[in-house]
Amino acid sequence: MRVLVFGSLNIDRVYTVPHMVRPGETLSSTQLQYHCGGKGLNQSIALARAGLPVCHAGKIGTDGAMLTAHLRRAGVDTAYVLTDPDVPSGHAVIQVDPSGENSILVYPGANAAISSEMVQNTLSHFTAGDFLLLQNEISCLGELIRQAKERGMTVALNPSPISDGLLQCESLPQVDWFILNELEGAQFAGSSVPDEICDRMLSRYPQSKIVLTLGGDGAVYADGKERRRQPAYPVRVVDTTAAGDTFTGYFFAGILRGSPPSECLRQANMAAALAVGVSGASTSIPTAADVAAALKKLEPDKNPYPKQAENPHECV
Ligand code: RIB
Repeated sequence: MRVLVFGSLNIDRVYTVPHMVRPGETLSSTQLQYHCGGKGLNQSIALARAGLPVCHAGKIGTDGAMLTAHLRRAGVDTAYVLTDPDVPSGHAVIQVDPSGENSILVYPGANAAISSEMVQNTLSHFTAGDFLLLQNEISCLGELIRQAKERGMTVALNPSPISDGLLQCESLPQVDWFILNELEGAQFAGSSVPDEICDRMLSRYPQSKIVLTLGGDGAVYADGKERRRQPAYPVRVVDTTAAGDTFTGYFFAGILRGSPPSECLRQANMAAALAVGVSGASTSIPTAADVAAALKKLEPDKNPYPKQAENPHECV
């Protein structure tokens, strides 16, 4: 089984601000940092830092070499990232206030230049049983879902950011996994009550599994048969950028290794908690060793990986 993230790559310009700029206001920021970001890139790096081999597909402009270099340094295969000479790379203008809250403005750039031809060429290298992770920051999303399902791939969608086009996308019933936050859930389901969001998503997409993140209230996993809730870990918030992407990468790394959803929620919650303690997007994503150490410190009696028998037929 191979793992493909087909998603956005952005140059993030992160401005530290005393408060979010208001309509009509001119505000001086106290710091400017450049980071590699984009929900797609961040999620690829989270999967890689969680220890999974991952391929990334997407588009950059000629100004985007730092983005592919950053992915490669994290161990991500960038063979399916194309450079388009006619458009600039996507970028994001991110304000971070003293509480660590952010506001993000995205310019799609090359992320919006994904064509049907690129979708077809890229997916021709993947086959039944492979796993595709998507977000809503690139063009041709519906086509990607449709073609991936025709090939027998498993498709997970983080429908972020939500748009009218996405809500009307005819391929959504084919999605195997939705992983979304409570605001996105409310837009899908017309309710802000977590259980109602899960119920309504499952009644609209009965074949899908739902993962709903609730910020400081943890996260929920729901399918047609079971529902699991996992509380969040206490954190000192520095910057919430990419916390959701970190959660997504760690959650699916666990699922693809065969861990039960409750354990995947636990690992993903801790990874996201560590990410919000550090500034930046992909730079804040912890390694699997960081996550394991933090969990061991907080919950020393819980062992996520049961002892393996030396003889596989022996019971432990
Ligand atoms: O989820 C965080 C990401 O959203 C940032 O890295 C930014 O590029 C936007 O895509």
